[in-house]
Amino acid sequence: MIVFGIETSCDETAAAVVKDGHELLSNVVATSIDLHAAYGGVVPEIAARSHIESIIPVIEEAVAVVGWDKIDAIAVTYGAGLGGSLLVGVMTARTLAITKNKPLYAVNHVHGHVAANFLTKTELPGYTLPSQQPEFPMLSLIVSGGHTQLVYFRTMFDYEILGKKRDDAIGEAFDKVAKIIGLPYPGGPSIAKAADKGNPYKYKLPKAKLDNPYEFSFSGLKTAVLRLAQDEIGENFTFPSFRLPERLSEAQKHDIAASFQRVAIETVVDKTIQAFETYQPKSVVIAGGVAASQELRRQLAERLPAPPGYTDIKLCTDNGAMIATLGCMMADTGLPFADPNSLDINPSLSM
Ligand code: KG4
Ligand code: ZN
Repeated sequence: MIVFGIETSCDETAAAVVKDGHELLSNVVATSIDLHAAYGGVVPEIAARSHIESIIPVIEEAVAVVGWDKIDAIAVTYGAGLGGSLLVGVMTARTLAITKNKPLYAVNHVHGHVAANFLTKTELPGYTLPSQQPEFPMLSLIVSGGHTQLVYFRTMFDYEILGKKRDDAIGEAFDKVAKIIGLPYPGGPSIAKAADKGNPYKYKLPKAKLDNPYEFSFSGLKTAVLRLAQDEIGENFTFPSFRLPERLSEAQKHDIAASFQRVAIETVVDKTIQAFETYQPKSVVIAGGVAASQELRRQLAERLPAPPGYTDIKLCTDNGAMIATLGCMMADTGLPFADPNSLDINPSLSM
């Protein structure tokens, strides 16, 4: 079974081909990150226009490895995400499903992130994949720019959400804190780089305490970083955040980045460990853009009895391979096709 996947939910135009739900045959990603950097976050209109420009060349490059004849089905992200961005991918996939006469699978983006962990084989250069697929029951920590949740999977399509975010997602907190201290978007990688030069124990920052131990809240941590930065330069809470970067020293930025990163990651790791002890899953996987964090991988490996089989960093941030993989699994499980004449987007889709 060979599935072609399309992903356009945010600022990456991506397409990939996956065989039998575990082998990566091609993976092409064009990102509009550079165009958004000047604004400190994704500008939906710019993202949608950029998808329109990139989608045909990205698809052509990804399909070239096998050709249309060998492709059995098309999978596409239909939510969650930015409306204009999702529309480009969904309309393209609908058109291809009709003109190439292939079944169409509508894939949930967040669920797709988890599926990326099932890729174990590729001949493409530059990928490090786990040697075997995760076993069920499986605990998944999903950490991206839009989502933060712990999910217990009995099978890939029979799962229970243990807890979700109550306000900001963890990736969003990385992006906002980066902006406060003047580091470029996306915040995850730029905070990680600055944190390498800082002291992670320099500042004491809060971890939110919630009634449900598996729920997440990051808005308090983000505000605490803002207050800390204002305090460090001897100003009060009325000082405008956009003027902070010019007043903070490099050393202060590095220490704030390191302290924030340690506490934000510790927060999700604490909850993952608690869920692991309570639910005793056979495997643990991390998924979503923040799963690229070396600090997250380090802390989890240190605290879990056996370290998870982490997937390649390139498959943590948005990509078409995760969508194609989940499409393969949907086909295998006999889940219904989408109607190529009517499949609609769902920007606020949840798992
Ligand atoms: O999954 P993703 O590509 O898009 C969404 O579905 O949201 O995740 C993007 C998020 C951004 O917030 C970015 O700052 C974060 O992933 N990110 C990281 C790292 N690389 C990307 N966060 C922490 N450490 C990283 N190395
Ligand atoms: Zn994502």
